[in-house]
Amino acid sequence: MKAVLLLPLLLVLCSGNVVKNDNERDQDWWETTIFYQIYPRSFADSDGDGIGDLNGITSKLGYLKELGVGAVWLSPMFQSPMYDFGYDISDFYAVHDEYGTMEDFENLIAAANELGIKLVLDLVPNHTSNESVWFQEALNGNEKYYNYFVWEDAVIDENGDRQPPNNWRSHFRGSAWEWRDEVGQYYLHQFVVGQPDLNYRNPEVVEEMKNIIRFWLDKGIAGFRVDAVNCLFEVDKNLFGGKYPDEPLSGNLDVHPDSHDYLSHIYTKDQNETYYMVYEFRDVFDEFTAKDGLTRVMMTEVYASIQDVMRYYGEGDLLGAQIPFNFDLITDVDASSSANDIKYTIDKFMTYKPVDKEANWVVGNHDNKRMATRYGPSLVDGMNMIVLLLPGVGVTYMGEELGMVDGYVSWEDTVDPSGCNTNDPINYADSSRDPCRTPFQWNAEKNSGFSTADKTWLPVADGYETLNVEAQKAAERSHYKVYQALAKLRQDKVFRYGRYDSVAFNKDVFVFRRWYNDETYLVVVNMRDTDYEIDLTYFENVIGDVSVVLRSIQSPKNEGDVFNASSVPVVGYEGIVLKL
Ligand code: NOJ
Ligand code: MG
Repeated sequence: MKAVLLLPLLLVLCSGNVVKNDNERDQDWWETTIFYQIYPRSFADSDGDGIGDLNGITSKLGYLKELGVGAVWLSPMFQSPMYDFGYDISDFYAVHDEYGTMEDFENLIAAANELGIKLVLDLVPNHTSNESVWFQEALNGNEKYYNYFVWEDAVIDENGDRQPPNNWRSHFRGSAWEWRDEVGQYYLHQFVVGQPDLNYRNPEVVEEMKNIIRFWLDKGIAGFRVDAVNCLFEVDKNLFGGKYPDEPLSGNLDVHPDSHDYLSHIYTKDQNETYYMVYEFRDVFDEFTAKDGLTRVMMTEVYASIQDVMRYYGEGDLLGAQIPFNFDLITDVDASSSANDIKYTIDKFMTYKPVDKEANWVVGNHDNKRMATRYGPSLVDGMNMIVLLLPGVGVTYMGEELGMVDGYVSWEDTVDPSGCNTNDPINYADSSRDPCRTPFQWNAEKNSGFSTADKTWLPVADGYETLNVEAQKAAERSHYKVYQALAKLRQDKVFRYGRYDSVAFNKDVFVFRRWYNDETYLVVVNMRDTDYEIDLTYFENVIGDVSVVLRSIQSPKNEGDVFNASSVPVVGYEGIVLKL
C-alpha cells in the first residue's frame, strides 16, 4: 500500500529527468506537412523576361496544393545584384526587381494563405552584398557601418607587397579577403567577393538582423530557412593577439589548393557562439508565435558533423530550429550506395536526434545535384517513398516529384560563381550548381512552359518534351502520381505517430516498417537492377499477407495485389508500399 502511494511521489520528485513519450499528441502544422523548395529564378516566369518571378509562383500555387504540399520555402527574393543569385542581398527589406514588387509579394502570401499553404523565406544572416547601403557607407568612412563588417590589415611580404591577412579561403575558391583602397584594409567574404561577411561580434548587426526577421514575419510568413548559419562567427581574434590565425590544412590533397576544402575550417565555422545566436533568433520567431498562436519555423542550413547539427535543435531550455536540415541523404549516399549504407545513414540521424524532436529528410536542393541525377532516374519513386514516409518532416526540392534531372549547361552559359571561379572550361561542371537550377518543366511547349522568352537565364534541360508536369498528370502512372499518393498517405496516423525500424535484406534491398496500434506498413526499396524474393517475416510480428498500397512506376504489381509476407517478389529498382 505504502509503495503504491510512494511511487507517484517519487515520479514527481524525479520529474526533471523523466522523458515522456506522448503518443498521439497534437501535432503542429509543420510536423505533418511537406516543405517544397522553390528557386524563384527557375520556377515560372510571368513576364517573359526569361527569369522566374513572384507572380509566376502565385500562378502555380494551385499545382502545389494539388500535389499535397503544405508549405513552400523560397530561396532569396530580396534585392540583389545576383553575384550569387540572390544570396548576395543589397536590400534585405525589398523585393528584387526582376522578381516583382512588394505588392506582388503580398499577393503571393494572400493567395497562399487562401489555399492553406504556408510561406517560408530564406534568411541570409552571414553576409550582405557589396552593393548594399551598409557596405557603401562603410567604404564612405561611416564608422557605424564599418563595424558591420569584418576588416583586417594587410600583411606586407618580404618583397614589400601587400598580401591578405591570412590563408582563409572562400567557399568559391581563392582568398576569403578582398582589399578596399577606401578603407585601407581587407574585408572578409566567406563566399563571393560580392558577399562581405557581417560582424556578429557587433550587437548592432545582431539587432539589425532581428529587425529583418521581424519585418518579414510581420508580413505574415511562417518562418525562415537560415542560410549558411554555421559561418556566422569567426574565432575571437583577441584570443590570438588581435590577428586572425591561419587555418590548418585539411590534408585533402585531391582538391585544388585554392579551394575551400583545402583547409580545415576550425576558425571560420561551427564556433560555439553561433548556436546561441540561433537560439536568440528563435526567441524572435517565438515573439510572433506568442502573439497569434501560429508557430514560426526555423530551418537551419548547416553541413557539419551530426553532433554539431543536433545542437541547432536547442540546448536545455534554449530552443533552436525545429528543422535543422538533415543533409545526410545528400552527402553520405548516392546511386553507388548499398541498402546497408542507406539504412546506416537514416539510422544515424534517428540515433542522434533528441527523442522529443522531429527528424527531417532532404534529398536535394539548389546547391547539389538533383536527386534523380544522384540516385539515378530509376530510384525516384523509391527515394520519394523514403523522404515522405519516414518519421518526421519531408522536404522536396522543386522537380523531385517529377524526377527532373540535372540539365547540361555549357561553359559559355555557366553563370554560377562556383562554376565560373574554377576558370576551367573542361571540369567546371563538377563545381557548378547551374545544372540543378535549370527551369522547371511544366509542359512540352517552348522553354518547357517556364517562359515565353527567346532565351531563359539557364537553358531548359534536355528531355523536357516528355518529362514534364502535363505529361505526368496525363499518364496513367507517373512519378507525379506516386508523389501525390505519398503526400496523402503520410497524413495517416501510422506515418505521423508510428514507430520505425528497418532491415537491409542484402546489399540492394532496403525495407522499413512503420507501425501504430494494429496497423503496419512496409516500404521496400530495391536500389539495384536485380530481382529478388524477400521474406518480410524477418520483421518481428510480420506474418500472413501483405497488400500493395502503392508502387513505383516500373513495378509490375498492381495496387491491391496480395502476397504472402514470407515471399514477396521484388523487381529491379522497384519501390513498394505494402500494408500488413
Ligand atoms: C548556401 C546557399 O544555399 C548557397 O546557394 C549560397 O551560395 C551560400 N549559402 C551563400 O549564401
Ligand atoms: Mg520574369
